[in-house]
Amino acid sequence: MFNKLNFLVWVVVLLYSIAEISSKFEFTNIKCTSLDAKFSDFEYCYLRSINRTYKYMSVKVNLFDTPITKIKVNGALYKRFSGYRPFMYNVTIDACRFLRDTASNPVAGYLFNFFKKYSNMNHACPYDHDLIFEKLPIDFVNEQATKVLPFPEGDYLLETNWFAYDIKRAVVKVYGTLS
Ligand SMILES: *[C@@H]1O[C@H](CO)[C@@H](O)[C@H](O)[C@H]1NC(C)=O
Ligand SMILES: *[C@@H]1O[C@H](CO)[C@@H](O)[C@H](O)[C@H]1NC(C)=O
Repeated sequence: MFNKLNFLVWVVVLLYSIAEISSKFEFTNIKCTSLDAKFSDFEYCYLRSINRTYKYMSVKVNLFDTPITKIKVNGALYKRFSGYRPFMYNVTIDACRFLRDTASNPVAGYLFNFFKKYSNMNHACPYDHDLIFEKLPIDFVNEQATKVLPFPEGDYLLETNWFAYDIKRAVVKVYGTLS
């Protein structure tokens, strides 16, 4: 009896590790939309595959009404069923408050530490220049999505909504597939 149970536990552990190892996250698309082109617009916004292991995204936002002292970012995760439906996460942060003390929010702080070397948003507000995310490598998401977070397979959409002075100015949608 004990041996049978023991064996069963090992089979489950083995299957689980195989499932974990074989799961893979791929970005499939990025879409950037300006909702107020007098305030800000996208100079570029794209995803590029150099080879199987090196993929990156680059985004440049032109700001026409600087300096900006109040920014909020909302991030919501969607999973595709018959259409995309909200899934698990919906978080809004006050970016200027967060940037004054990036240790104040551990999760955002962790992401920020990763992003900051690829972006010129890596300082406290105000922003009086165009915002650039340059060649942000995206394989790190693979590790986060497949090892740290136990996500089911499927198609996902991370929608980020960017607010300045509490008015929605831009939407950036990043699509990906976990297989
Ligand atoms: C992918 O491209 C990067 C950058 O050019 C290079 O450093 C890396 O060795 C390449 N990897 C493979 C597996 O070809
Ligand atoms: C996320 O939360 C905000 C504020 O509660 C809400 O307005 C928005 O519709 C939510 N988004 C999703 C995708 O559920």
